[in-house]
Amino acid sequence: MFVCLGNICRSPAGEGVFKHYVAERGLQGEFEADSAGTSAYHVGEPPDRRMRQAASRRGLDLTGQSRQFSERDFQRFDLIVAMDRSNLRSIQAMDRKGRYQHKIKLFSDFVGDGFPVDVPDPYYGGRDGFDAVLDLLEEGMDGLLEHLAGSAGE
Ligand code: 4NP
Repeated sequence: MFVCLGNICRSPAGEGVFKHYVAERGLQGEFEADSAGTSAYHVGEPPDRRMRQAASRRGLDLTGQSRQFSERDFQRFDLIVAMDRSNLRSIQAMDRKGRYQHKIKLFSDFVGDGFPVDVPDPYYGGRDGFDAVLDLLEEGMDGLLEHLAGSAGE
């Protein structure tokens, strides 16, 4: 479960890149992926057109409608990946009894050294920002898949 603020830029892109990597490796049946926002600002909207265009230049088709992260998602998903530290804190705070803290990670936990801690919010910036998000997501996706493979069956 990929989480950002609006669920129209970074987390749908994370979901799209993840599904693409999984399909490339013939592992479609092994994983379920989804995305959500910590806010309700854009609920019901498709991914941002600028992000869809940036993704489509890389052969990725981003679909879905924005929804807000809900407490039920803590049970439904094994791993909840926040795009930045603000998203991380919001999700951690929603787990009031502290039962699911072990499932909540920051995307950059899976990226090598020398990359930003936060996947930067591209919403108010230019076109380069959307490409930078996709670069980072692609950079971390192998590490994320390795993590999931390592914890399979838990
Ligand atoms: P996202 O980007 O969190 O990557 O989907 C944003 C989308 C909308 C807003 C902020 C970030 N907003 O403030 O409306």
